Amino acid sequence: MHFGPRHWHGKSEFLLDKLNSYAPDIVINTGDSTTDALENEFAAAGDFLKSIECQYVVSIPGNHDKRNMRSADYFRQYIENIEVIRPLNRDKCRKNNIFLEGNTNGIKEHFTDINFLKNITVNGESLLIVCLDSNVLYKDNGFVDKEILKTLSHTINKASYDKIILLTHHSILDTDSDPLFNSRIVVEFVREHNIEHVFCGHTHHLSIMRSTDLYHKHSFTQYKNGSLSSGNTLNDTNMFLYYKDFGTEAMEIHVVRAIVENDDVQFKEEIISTR
Ligand SMILES: [Fe+2]
Repeated sequence: MHFGPRHWHGKSEFLLDKLNSYAPDIVINTGDSTTDALENEFAAAGDFLKSIECQYVVSIPGNHDKRNMRSADYFRQYIENIEVIRPLNRDKCRKNNIFLEGNTNGIKEHFTDINFLKNITVNGESLLIVCLDSNVLYKDNGFVDKEILKTLSHTINKASYDKIILLTHHSILDTDSDPLFNSRIVVEFVREHNIEHVFCGHTHHLSIMRSTDLYHKHSFTQYKNGSLSSGNTLNDTNMFLYYKDFGTEAMEIHVVRAIVENDDVQFKEEIISTR
């Protein structure tokens, strides 16, 4: 959504009405809610997200949301009031700026990575949502810390659930000029936990891809839509995806494009069958 200078000029009320008309079970926001991770941008994004009529609105941070040493604090204050998962062994972490020197900068949160799990129940089934922070503080390209993946695996292995999905800001299949450099270890993580559905964002580009590992006999699908309400939509219009009967044989994906026309927003819907 890029609240701040890169936010669109459309009216959010029209977008909210359209989103709410689907009465979704879950809403997934794959990051870059802000432009520069400023507090007023986080607050505006938080207000928008709270206006979505859905019990489970799950957001992860994007690279733009990590342009501030207070990103983790702001994210928890305005977007998701979650318990961040800490690494099993902090000395093994290799991501740049994953820990900040608290005594020199005086900020409350020294640990900058925002990884968490959410276990929710939808239609009687428990869904484990793994939220992986692929972003590096102050950088646009991505990096995932091996020790964080190990810690997440440790926590996932103790959890009980019927279905599992992964949310990560950077794509793990196709890339752009600011890619996730070590996506391979995330693909391995996806296979290890038998994850079949991965949601990502970042590139402002619609892409729904299935990847099959012929050696390990594992397939997963990565869902990536364009931006929801951004000012820079060079690749396509703003859009969101609506997944009907998600994860079933009958699943339909609705690509809902939002086109700003003067003071109005027009919506164009295209239905993709996944069979
Ligand atoms: Fe991004």
